[in-house]
Amino acid sequence: MTSAKYLSVFSPATKQERKENFENYWEFTQHHGGELIEDDRDLAKKRARLQYFKENPVKLRTPLADPDAFYRNYVEMKDDPASLDRMTLMLTGMYKFARHEWVGIKGAWDVVPDMANSHAVEDKISRVHLAEEFCHWRLFDEMLRTCGLDRIEWVPLSPVKEWIYEQFPKFPGFLMDTPAFVTELMGVTYYCYLHQLFDELLVDEPEVRVRLKELLDEITIDEVAHVGQRRNFIGPIGMKVSKLLVKPFYTMFFADIPEVGQLFDIKQMIKDGEAFDFNQLPDYMIERSWIPSYCKA
Ligand SMILES: [Fe+2]
Ligand SMILES: [Fe+2]
Repeated sequence: MTSAKYLSVFSPATKQERKENFENYWEFTQHHGGELIEDDRDLAKKRARLQYFKENPVKLRTPLADPDAFYRNYVEMKDDPASLDRMTLMLTGMYKFARHEWVGIKGAWDVVPDMANSHAVEDKISRVHLAEEFCHWRLFDEMLRTCGLDRIEWVPLSPVKEWIYEQFPKFPGFLMDTPAFVTELMGVTYYCYLHQLFDELLVDEPEVRVRLKELLDEITIDEVAHVGQRRNFIGPIGMKVSKLLVKPFYTMFFADIPEVGQLFDIKQMIKDGEAFDFNQLPDYMIERSWIPSYCKA
């Protein structure tokens, strides 16, 4: 057995290590996403990549059997989820996951300082991070369109839930950093499961399977970097708290998206989150992503 290349994301780090890692991440993120286009909440390289996908579309060989089932259940589950086919569940679940992300970042974008008012490296990182999340929402939209779903609307959550999401970024760091980190970790766990599901459900759709993976990879590569970056905000006590939060957070969040429990083993997802150490990720992702120095063996 070869020894593992990477260590647990919950590995300890000194204050000095974290400071150096912020500097290093800031270098990475500027190359990775390209120029920030603040008015459009976008990044130049990511915009070009999405443009490429849009200019070279692929289509399902066999259109979705029951798109009405998607449109009936995508904002809110109206049918018994057990009565829906796995393809519909996958697609409505993707919409719901992306919708939560979209609501969260809309709330945060207006609250955190813009780039002109970001002086600390952490603030600059957070501004670019949010722009990346807007790109993820656009990539999800493109995944659904690739499956022929071009009548999707992005519907806000209930006013109460929208308000809660808006308050979140106003919290002080010691309260906000641990849930923000665990949320990123949950994203990576979900995307890894989704990636495998593409293989299962799109056996007879090679073009769309490849395209959905390309679109999802763009997101996952960022999200792996976000996991390390958000971990880097957290000191020793916060790291212990974070590990304890994995189970309740995953449980609570996925309770709101019934598709996830239908498609995946949530208990195993929690275990994967608690054990996350970057070693399961393919090399092509690692090469384009970012891992804190103290998580390298
Ligand atoms: Fe994201
Ligand atoms: Fe993220």
